[in-house]
Formats: sequence, structure tokens, C-alpha cells
Amino acid sequence: MKTILIIGKSDLAKAIENKHARIPSPSHECATVGRPEYDFSKQEHCDRVLNDFPSPSVAINTLGTLTDNYWDSFVSNYVAPAYLTLKYYEQMSEGHIINISSASAWWPSYPGMHHSRFCYSVSKYTLSEFGKHFNRVTIDNDKNVTVTTIEPGAFKSKMSKQTGFDIGRVVDAIDIVMKTKSQHFSLIKE
Ligand SMILES: NC(=O)c1ccc[n+]([C@@H]2O[C@H](COP(=O)([O-])OP(=O)(O)OC[C@H]3O[C@@H](n4cnc5c(N)ncnc54)[C@H](OP(=O)(O)O)[C@@H]3O)[C@@H](O)[C@H]2O)c1
Repeated sequence: MKTILIIGKSDLAKAIENKHARIPSPSHECATVGRPEYDFSKQEHCDRVLNDFPSPSVAINTLGTLTDNYWDSFVSNYVAPAYLTLKYYEQMSEGHIINISSASAWWPSYPGMHHSRFCYSVSKYTLSEFGKHFNRVTIDNDKNVTVTTIEPGAFKSKMSKQTGFDIGRVVDAIDIVMKTKSQHFSLIKE
């Protein structure tokens, strides 16, 4: 049984679920976890999800927040995804962990930037840098677990009113990395 665990009840999570629910298969199931049951800014809730959903075939972290609560921004955009990645990597003997970072990681600071945007971007930058560690880890050991970072440009969602590109393209990018096991995928508007 292939199990896909989606972390964060995001609009992106809904789009992933919609696509995968259209593939009727007794051999695969998909679960999405987030608030109110799990608040990933709390370590005990991260530990609970690791216990409740152990060793999925694929874990897709879609957590993200753009907020004036700087503490929450660093914790939810970086600390929780990094912690879950490290713990799932230890747990899993094979599979795939996918972190949704952002194209804003490419340029985390610019003149006149609001602090909430800066905290979002720098936490995504850190998440992208964190992902690079696993390129080395994959070379250094035989464990068949891939860690991928995807950096999408703007798409319309609860978080972003920008039109950008269609959310379906981010779902397609996830499907591509699942097939190819590539470790880094940046997605920008044509
Ligand atoms: N939309 C864009 O333009 C864009 C561009 C690049 C990257 N991204 C990334 O794409 C991913 C999906 O975002 P989206 O655009 O689909 O926006 P979204 O619908 O706002 O999704 C973000 C989700 O993360 C959840 N979340 C944040 N902190 C959490 C916490 N501590 N515990 C539990 N859940 C938490 C939010 O839950 P609540 O609703 O309860 O707060 C929300 O469901 C995010 O990682 C985002 O940073 C988005």
C-alpha cells in the first residue's frame, strides 16, 4: 500500500488530494493533517503526527504562513518542516519526503521589504538550504529515501491573492519529482 501523507491543510494540499483521488486504486491512500488536530508550531504535535502516521511512502510538507507573528513564521515555515524531515528520514527505510519552499528563497531580502515578508522568505531560504544537506546524505549512505525541495513562484491560494500560475502546475511538479526522485525543483512563471 502506497501512503501519501500531506502536512498542512493548505489549498495546495486540496489540489494534491483532488488529483490523487481521481486515481482510484486500492493500493494507495492519501491523508492530510493540520489544524485543529495538529498545530505544527508545537513540538509535541509534530511528535504525535510521527507516531500517528509512521513511515509513509511519501510525506509532502505544505506548511506555510506569511504573518506579523515572526516567531510563528520561523517555526512553522522552517523549524517544524526541518524537524519532521529529520525524524521521518530516520523512521523511513524507503520513500520520499517533499518540502514546499518558495521562489522567494532566491532573494530573501530587498530594500523596503516588510518584516513579515522577510521572515517568510528567509525561513524558506533556510528550508531550501536545509534540503541541500540531503543531497550529500544520499551520496554518503545507501538509504533509499529521497528528500526534495520544491520552490514554486506565486500561485493563487488562501495565503496569496497573486494570480501567478495555476496551482495545478505545482501539483504537476510534485508528480514529476515523485517519478524522477529529483532533489530540487524550481518553478517560475513563463
Ligand atoms: N501561494 C503562493 O504564492 C506560494 C508560493 C510559493 C510557495 N508557497 C508555499 O506553498 C505551500 C502551500 O501554501 P498555499 O499557497 O496553498 O497556502 P495556504 O492555503 O495558506 O496553506 C498554508 C497552510 O499551512 C498551514 N499552517 C501554517 N502553519 C501551521 C501550523 N503551525 N500548524 C498547522 N498548519 C499550519 C495553514 O493552516 P491555517 O490555515 O490553519 O493557518 C494553511 O493550511 C506553503 O508552504 C507556501 O509557503 C506558496
